[in-house]
Amino acid sequence: MALRLMLTRKSLASGLRAEPSVLLGSGLASQSRGVKTFALPDLPYDYGALEPAISGEIMRLHHQKHHQTYVTNYNKALEQLEEAITKGDASTTVKLQSAIKFNGGGHVNHSIFWKNLTPISEGGGEPPKGSLGWAVDTHFGSLEGLVKKMNAEGAALQGSGWVWLGYDKESQKLVVETTANQDPLVTKAPTLVPLVGIDVWEHAYYLQYKNVRPDYLKNIWRVINWKYASEVYDKECS
Ligand SMILES: [Fe+2]
Repeated sequence: MALRLMLTRKSLASGLRAEPSVLLGSGLASQSRGVKTFALPDLPYDYGALEPAISGEIMRLHHQKHHQTYVTNYNKALEQLEEAITKGDASTTVKLQSAIKFNGGGHVNHSIFWKNLTPISEGGGEPPKGSLGWAVDTHFGSLEGLVKKMNAEGAALQGSGWVWLGYDKESQKLVVETTANQDPLVTKAPTLVPLVGIDVWEHAYYLQYKNVRPDYLKNIWRVINWKYASEVYDKECS
């Protein structure tokens, strides 16, 4: 079990597949080129471990189907990009940017999301302590104030997207932001670091909460991993 946790946490941290590079084209020149492919990271907990806040069925589908699809399509787009660059095909290089942003963003965001969650038995929902706890109180009055703000913004987000608690390295303040589709937080500003990201796509809650996104948002805080968020915050602040 300990070994599995070590391995899964390591793969979550990198998201990179330790495989031979994909070779494109032919001949000796192409053998020195290649792109690194990305792999679906394992979850550091079982699919059913977040119940009753998030059902095992949702977690399995979300991870095995949705996240996997982003990874697959991201790798495909990167391989096509490598080929287009090799050929000097500027038009295709530009055309691929939206697929890279969407699928690459999906992979980046979900890799953070899995780490933002943890079972109650492992500290899920335990309020942030130390410097992040102080910062939350300073910026939002209290943890309840932050939760209320994120839930309101997440519920109001039209269509699909994410609601984030981020740390702005420039202003050294905590911020709440939303992003559309699979845009990562950094697309809002390059100085933003995600601490907690909540997926508000319907695939994250519909099987359990139907169309009632506010109930999903209310319950997800029971399994938020504040220990992870605090580690990221402390690292950025040090
Ligand atoms: Fe998702």
